[in-house]
Amino acid sequence: MHTAASNMPTSLRGMTAIVTGGAKGIGLGIARELARHGCRIAIWDMDQAALLEATDEIAALGAEVRASQVNVASQDQVEAAVTQLRASFGRIDVLVNNAGIGGDKLVTKMDLDFWKKVIDVNLTSQFICSKAVIPTMVEQNFGRIVNISSRAWLGNRGQASYSASKGGVVSFTRSLALEFARNGITANAIAPGIVETPLFATLKDELVDGLKKSVPMQRIGQPEDVAQAVRFFAEPASSYITGQLLYVCGGRSLSSPSV
Ligand SMILES: NC(=O)c1ccc[n+]([C@@H]2O[C@H](COP(=O)([O-])OP(=O)(O)OC[C@H]3O[C@@H](n4cnc5c(N)ncnc54)[C@H](O)[C@@H]3O)[C@@H](O)[C@H]2O)c1
Repeated sequence: MHTAASNMPTSLRGMTAIVTGGAKGIGLGIARELARHGCRIAIWDMDQAALLEATDEIAALGAEVRASQVNVASQDQVEAAVTQLRASFGRIDVLVNNAGIGGDKLVTKMDLDFWKKVIDVNLTSQFICSKAVIPTMVEQNFGRIVNISSRAWLGNRGQASYSASKGGVVSFTRSLALEFARNGITANAIAPGIVETPLFATLKDELVDGLKKSVPMQRIGQPEDVAQAVRFFAEPASSYITGQLLYVCGGRSLSSPSV
């Protein structure tokens, strides 16, 4: 919903939100949450089959949805997707930089290509996507950027590239917040703990039990837990909150500095 006088959003209703990696897992949970609150949704993902399913699911919630097969680490593909989205929805109010990949390898066993790929997909993509939407947000004098980091940014043995990429997300978010604080644009980050995604179905019961016990709340997080936090940052009313990192991890950041 936009006020006639200023064209500024006053609620999520009618706002346009891009969710990268929105075809599955946490991203799909975020797309659902924003759609339920009236946003028009753009899902950018590489997985074409999952994109089609996600599009049907979001449309069934009554939301307008555009799905694009985009590699968020490719500046050309991202810029083309922004042009297309502006042509169909006119505005871009929210960018959720969620797409990411895991990266488990000890430093001594990690080659440079592996390191670079994780940094490219998890961190450089957030720079590429933010840079591509910011001119529109500056024009609107309104924007919400929400970057998905991870509790692992604190450091995990065997996850040097992943942790470094997620630590980079935190610093990138703080810098973005400062650069665009005068343009009505906020940038915040979320650090999920362990969240149940399709990957979980492949894990052995004992491993899942062990993971649950490592969480002070004794449960694995759900995509909806992260999605709630994204919605909070995306709300027009959250206009005085920027450059912040919010843990969504059932207390795990407090009690287990590693893994
Ligand atoms: N699941 C967890 O426990 C957990 C914990 C902390 C942080 N995170 C972070 O949350 C985000 C989502 O993770 P998830 O668990 O839902 O993962 P997921 O693998 O279930 O979903 C990730 C989605 O991103 C897409 N994707 C991957 N690379 C892409 C690229 N280059 N361009 C476009 N799309 C791409 C995939 O196709 C997939 O649909 C990631 O940034 C991840 O690091 C996850």
